[in-house]
Formats: sequence, C-alpha cells, structure tokens
Amino acid sequence: MYRTHTCGELRPSHINTEVTLCGWVQTVRKFGSITFTDLRDRYGLTQLLFNEQLNTRLDETPIGREYVIQIKGKVLERSNKNAKIPTGEIEVEVIDFTIMNVAATPPFTIEENTDGGDELRMKYRYLDLRRPMLKRNLELRYKVSRSVRNYLDTIGFWDIETPFLIKSTPEGARDFVVPSRMNEGQFYALPQSPQTFKQLLMVSGYDRYYQIVKCFRDEDLRADRQPEFTQIDCEMSFVEQEDILNVFEGLFKHVFEEVKGITITEQFPRITWDDAMWHYGNDKPDLRFEMKIQNLKTSFVHPSIEAPDHNIFCHALNGVDFKVTNEAESILAIVVPNASEYTRKQTDELTEWVKRPQIGMTGLLFVKCNADGTFKSSVDKFFDEDRLKDIANFTGAAAGDLILILAGNETRTRKATSDLRLEIGERLGLRNPDVYKPLWVIDFPLFEYDEEGNRWVARHHPFTSPKPEHIDVMINNDPKIAEAALFYKHPYNNIKANAYDIVLNGTEIGGGSIRIYQRALQEKMFAALGMSKEEAQEKFGFLLGAFEYGAPPHGGIAFGFDRLCALLGGQETIRDFIAFPKNNSGRDVMIDAPSSIDDQQLNELRLKSTV
Ligand code: AMO
Repeated sequence: MYRTHTCGELRPSHINTEVTLCGWVQTVRKFGSITFTDLRDRYGLTQLLFNEQLNTRLDETPIGREYVIQIKGKVLERSNKNAKIPTGEIEVEVIDFTIMNVAATPPFTIEENTDGGDELRMKYRYLDLRRPMLKRNLELRYKVSRSVRNYLDTIGFWDIETPFLIKSTPEGARDFVVPSRMNEGQFYALPQSPQTFKQLLMVSGYDRYYQIVKCFRDEDLRADRQPEFTQIDCEMSFVEQEDILNVFEGLFKHVFEEVKGITITEQFPRITWDDAMWHYGNDKPDLRFEMKIQNLKTSFVHPSIEAPDHNIFCHALNGVDFKVTNEAESILAIVVPNASEYTRKQTDELTEWVKRPQIGMTGLLFVKCNADGTFKSSVDKFFDEDRLKDIANFTGAAAGDLILILAGNETRTRKATSDLRLEIGERLGLRNPDVYKPLWVIDFPLFEYDEEGNRWVARHHPFTSPKPEHIDVMINNDPKIAEAALFYKHPYNNIKANAYDIVLNGTEIGGGSIRIYQRALQEKMFAALGMSKEEAQEKFGFLLGAFEYGAPPHGGIAFGFDRLCALLGGQETIRDFIAFPKNNSGRDVMIDAPSSIDDQQLNELRLKSTV
C-alpha cells in the first residue's frame, strides 16, 4: 500500500498512530540538526519532521522542492499550531522515507501567491495546477457539474452525446474545420453548439435532453471567451417559454444551494430587452447596483414612449445654443451618488477614460449638484442654473450627487454610458463578487442589422421562433421579410423573438429560445436572412426534412459552463476554471498547438500549405 492517509487528513485524533503518506515536497526548512518539510497532495499539506538521525540520511540523499516522496512516520501534536490549515494541529515525525521521484527546480513557486507570470504558468500548466487556487477552481467546477447532473437526472433529463465532426452550425462565429482524408477535398466543421442535433432529438421523441458538452468557436477571445468551451446544453419538447424559465431557474437555484450554500427563494427578475437597453445600455445588466441610465434625449425606440424619434425628452435642452447637445442623436446620463465633490482632477480623469478608443466618446459633460443646492457644471456657459436644476430633476439627482452626461450617436453613446456605469460601479466597490444578482432578459429582437455585412442576421440563431403575434408579419410579408423588419424602422425595435438569456452580475451565462418547428416558417426565416431556397436546402435540408416527419413544439437553453463556474468562484476570467485552456491568441503554449503538420499528412489530406 502506497499510503494510509492523504496529506489533508490527519487531525489530533490521529496522534500517536503510525501513518504512511505520499506527496510532493513543498518546502524544506533546515534548523540545525532537524529539518521540517511540508508534504503536499490534492487534499492538503502536512508538516513533516526529520529528526537528527534522518537528517544524516537527508545530507546523503537530499530532497528538494517538488520531489515525490513516501514517508512512514508517527503523528505528533504540534507545539506551534497553525490555525490556517486543517492539519495545523499535528505534524508527522518521519521514521523512514523513500524518494519516489526527483524533480527539477520548478520555474515558479508552487504556492498561492506565485512569482510566475501568466505565459510561464501556461507553459507549465501541469505545475500551475498543483497550486491551491487552481485546485479549488477545478473542484468547484466538478461540484457544479455534479450538481447540474443531479438536478437534471432527477427531473427526467437524459444525457445524450452528439457528434463533433459535423457540418457548420450557425451560432455567429467562424467554424473550426477538419479536413476529411476519406472524402477528398471535403471538411467537417466542429460544432459551435449541438443546436441542430438537439432539435433532431426532439423530433425523435427524446424530450428532456441535456449534455455537458464542448463547443468550438473561432472568434476573438476575451476574459470570458475561449475557442473551445463547455456548455450545459438542454432541450425540451411540448414546452412554452414559461416552462423553460421555470425549469432552468430551478437548476440555477439548485446549483447555488448545493455548491455555494446560498438559498434563493424569490423569482428571478425578468426584464425585457427593450428595458435592459433603455435602463442599462446593454442586454446583460449588472443588477448589483442601480445607477440606471437617464435618457435625456434619444432616438431609441422604447415601446412605452410615444413617437420618440429625435424627440427632446429633457426640456432643459430646448433652445440652448450648444452644438454638442443640439447635434447629438442621443444624450444619456448617469447619476453618481455623493460624488459632487469630485475634484477637477477626477472629472478630467473620467473624461480621459471615456475618450479612450475602446469607449470612443469625444468628451464628458458633468453637473455637480452641490450640497447647498447650487450647481456647478462643465457647461455653465450654455446652461443657466434653472436649466441645470431641470436636468437634476429629470435625472433624479439629489444634492451631493454628480451627473455624468454623454452625447453623440445613439448606439455608441448607449454603449459608452453602459461602460461608464460599470466603471463607476467598479470604482465605488458596488460590483462585489460575493453578491449574486441573476435575472432573465426576455423578448429579444428576432433580427439584428449587421452594419458590416449590410444585412439582417438572426440575433440568436435562425431556429428561434418569432413571438406568436409577429409570425403573421413574417408570413404575410413574404418573401421580403427583411423589409418587414425594416418596417419597424429601427434595428433595436424590430420583430421580437421567443428568446431569453440568463444573466448573472453583468455576464450572460446562458441563452436559448423556443424554436421554429414548422418547415414553412423555418423556410421563411432562412429567406429573411437572405438565404436562397437552394442554399437553405444545402445547409439545413436535414432539419427542414425532419420537420416534415412530426416535429413537436420545442425549446431549450444552453449555459456557459465555464462562465457559470468562474462567477460562482467570484471571478470573471474563465481561464482558471479550465484545466488546460488556450491563451489570448488561441494557443496552447504547453503543447505548442496549433502547429504545422508534415508534408505526408498534408498529402494524405490533399492539402497544400502556402506559408
Ligand atoms: P449561445 O451562443 O448564446 O447559445 O451560447 C450559450 C452560452 O455559452 C456561453 N458562451 C461561451 N463561453 C465561453 N467561451 C465562448 N467562446 C462562448 N460562447 C458562448 C455563454 C452563452 O450564454 N445553441 C444556443 C443555445 C440554445 O439556443 O439553446 C447557443 O449556443 O455563456
């Protein structure tokens, strides 16, 4: 037997027992004729004491950091206890030891606060994974996956695998492709999601499907994006949106309870996409703090506002000879509580912040609502005291608050105000990772205008069904559905979909929809997206065909598993919740992939490299 206990197991109840432990040497501390070391494994650390006699042996066969050793010893009570670790009340006096393997000096310290930089740790990921932080993250990931499976298994979901070598799935990213040796000149695509397969499983009658599955998307990477990532992918038949929201809100609550010990009893708020954009400037609002966007003037078509086109909402802006506000399509503001005493330096710094290329604004206007009821602003020249007071009333600012105002093109200004809101929230410490604010965003637009491609694209994916009341519009305007969408004038306010996202603390952690299940409507959808009949048949003939053989009404959702784990772990970067992730250029620097392949392989695949 290699070991009797793990390095995280021994407690005062084991004192005086003889144990055998195996693990990695974390530290070696020599004190005169005795030596202390910490022995580490997945379960924890145990302090070892090598007495005088063994020290002589240690001199002959020294042990170093990360050596793998086996020791036999006796558990003793520790004289100076360490309350920080679970085994801190004991130590093991070594009777005998064996070096099972030596180790080269690791390129960075394998401790909580390591001295290794990002790239170095990625290169030696197998060493980095020995650090407690990564171990905790992977343990959390395992617990989340177990909890998800438990919940879905008990309510009748079946885990069914779907293939990886498939044809393109339209999730909005580029495909990773795999050449086929046996089918010369042809390629598989790796799934961006199992979307079409899970729908086919519904046609086959396997309602209540799930899979914790890898998805592959060739897109620009960010902190919350990896080229291969994992989804909790689900689909159900004979359901409406309400059923899906309830089942998966249940899943979410179950995971929170089981993994974090957090009980959420109340229903998650549901916010329409229009409202999310109106109040927060984005479709994944961070509800941990208020600071809603105030729409002083906007071209945004919000359903509850009549005839809004370029209307001036805040009367203080009327008849003011100020180019910036007069010419702006939209003027949006946020009110920062208790910030009227910001110094010139602070407002200048915020102005520089909004001028950064990522934000792209030309400047920032502000109104300080002084505690004594007076106002001071960056636009005093154009706005007299009464007008500033009007702005304060309109935005709901109180004495002591600071109003930050951005003006410009609607889309950019809304995005910038949203970014500014998040930045201020961060600076004020309002984005506490230990506070969880989940919500559903519902009633997404069905289409979205792609400025670059100059065409309408599916906001979610082309299998998403329109709201029942909008199906008529689609059918009756056939075949020029794109124009039907244009009929709603603004890309923000076109036909609405039966689509929903689940958002947690400003991150989209899941999204799904009720699907189209009739061939005719699906064909119209493809046509709306500018796909010819032949193209639709060539790309999705299998699905259109399946819809002719008794497709049930169905819908589903997919959660970003890595994102969910990261948020449950209190972090926004998903990389450290994945055992072997890629870096920001999509490389695995440990195995050095991607890499070129040799000529023989290229020949077999009938491929030629031009680089
Ligand atoms: P969607 O494309 O919204 O929907 O993806 C679902 C969720 O997956 C996560 N996600 C990612 N996580 C890490 N890295 C990425 N590159 C990445 N891309 C997406 C997000 C997202 O909410 N088939 C549909 C689901 C459905 O309709 O049922 C789909 O894939 O958290």
